[in-house]
Amino acid sequence: MPVPPPDRADELAFAIELAARAGALQMERYERVQQIEHKSAKDVVTEVDHLSEALIFDAIRARFPDDALLGEESGGHDARAGHEATSGIGRAWVVDPLDGTINYANGIPFFCVSIALIEVGRPVVGVIHDPTRGETFAATLGGGATLNGRTLTPSGKDKLSDFVISMALSGRAVSTRARSVRRIIRVSRSMGSAALALAYVANGRFDAMVQQGGLSTWDIAAAGLIAEAAGAVVTDLAGGPWFDVSRGPKTIGLLAAQSAHHAELLRLVNGA
Ligand code: IPD
Ligand code: CA
Ligand code: CA
Repeated sequence: MPVPPPDRADELAFAIELAARAGALQMERYERVQQIEHKSAKDVVTEVDHLSEALIFDAIRARFPDDALLGEESGGHDARAGHEATSGIGRAWVVDPLDGTINYANGIPFFCVSIALIEVGRPVVGVIHDPTRGETFAATLGGGATLNGRTLTPSGKDKLSDFVISMALSGRAVSTRARSVRRIIRVSRSMGSAALALAYVANGRFDAMVQQGGLSTWDIAAAGLIAEAAGAVVTDLAGGPWFDVSRGPKTIGLLAAQSAHHAELLRLVNGA
């Protein structure tokens, strides 16, 4: 008899509960941020990013002490067996404790918690929690994607001219390429939380999501799995695999869309 794939129900339930706890911490402090530090000219971090990551990592260490950790704020923490979180060996939790920090710090209610479990380099559990709406997107590899327990499917729109796309393009001839995408879709948006926008592809709130670079593994690990598990096609901007746990921060581009229109969007965003 074939062995059924592991369902990872414990890890999924754990991650859902943990994301809700981090989200509650964020809501307690929402519009009461005390420290905004500059990581770079454009990038900021608040005390809530650090507190959320500490809450999440303390809980993972207590429950799964053998696993490696990778978080935006504190970086990588090796597994008990010695391998690095980015090695693609064994298990690693990849976490963005607060995606959409600029929104959060400015009081714009569009941000989320992102928690993913990676096994042998692949996301196998993904949870995105939006505490402002009490919405939790979740998926496991080989299982479906859900929002607050209800199964999700991506948009089934026939025509690109009806598409509402989360779009962040950059690089060579960006305005020409952005124009050529906008010409054939209904409208593009840029909401400031890549993880939440990518999760929205899972239930068709966005018909597609594209970001050309600037992403890190913690932005996409959970939401990419959720979009894919719902049935969307997710790739990097060369049309290849979307996830590589060893990729450095802010080096990743990604396109998620329903299968019928993924190839054409990929061509357009690349200016081909
Ligand atoms: C950022 C947001 C933003 C995306 C950036 C990310 P952060 O994450 O997701 O929408 O364009 O590439 O770094 O800093 O808010 O966690
Ligand atoms: Ca992020
Ligand atoms: Ca973040």
